[in-house]
Amino acid sequence: MATFLLDMSPREMADHLGEALRVYVSAMGYPPGTERQRAAMWLEHTRRNGWKAVAAFRSGADSAPGHLGGDTTVSEAGTAAAQSADAELLGVAYGYCGAPDQWWQQQVVLGLQRRNLPEPDIARLMTSYFELTELHVVPSAQGSGLGEALARRLLSGRPEANVLLSTPETSGEANRAWRLYRRLGFTDVMRGHHFTGDPRPFAILGRPLPLP
Ligand SMILES: CC(C)(COP(=O)(O)OP(=O)(O)OC[C@H]1O[C@@H](n2cnc3c(N)ncnc32)[C@H](O)[C@@H]1OP(=O)(O)O)[C@@H](O)C(=O)NCCC(=O)NCCS
Repeated sequence: MATFLLDMSPREMADHLGEALRVYVSAMGYPPGTERQRAAMWLEHTRRNGWKAVAAFRSGADSAPGHLGGDTTVSEAGTAAAQSADAELLGVAYGYCGAPDQWWQQQVVLGLQRRNLPEPDIARLMTSYFELTELHVVPSAQGSGLGEALARRLLSGRPEANVLLSTPETSGEANRAWRLYRRLGFTDVMRGHHFTGDPRPFAILGRPLPLP
């Protein structure tokens, strides 16, 4: 058994969309069926500027490339599908370059304005950032460093100045997502933020790129 990471092209994301959404739903503990509501949005995201995705697979084959913990390699174009064909998807992460026409950026800017952050500070934050949109590992594979490996690979070599993300507020920051983001050096951009249509409070976290 080997666990390996692969960068995914938009086509490969489309091919693995059902599995990737099942990873997302099980990791987040959402009700079955949530996948169907998200599919069109995840596909639309693949067309955004700077979109990048990384997946973690477990394969029965000993010859799988880039074993986790070793020297993980970026698969050559056209080979990822073959490498992952008989492998189980354990985790997925993706994001893209933030832009003013995106709902997420508009919501975050509104929140920062309501908190009276000066416009130059908002501009400095929002002019050049990678939005880490999704990061999920199936519950059975959590707690062995896979999430951190996905995040590090996703954020490596990015041209943006910052990385930003939103994550649900949790009492005492007591979950793996919060521990991971703090370990990677993310700091508070805004706490207790409410996105339109979602009753849950979110934290917006960020840090400069690259990661150390
Ligand atoms: C958040 C999430 C992606 C993190 O991924 P993960 O693989 O579980 O976690 P990490 O990569 O950070 O690994 C952390 C754990 O692995 C351990 N670990 C780290 N490197 C390791 C290694 N090389 N070997 C073994 N264990 C290791 C750490 O000690 C840590 O254990 P602990 O949390 O029990 O203290 C994952 O837990 C998840 O999908 N959670 C639910 C969905 C979610 O909240 N997503 C984010 C929404 S914004």
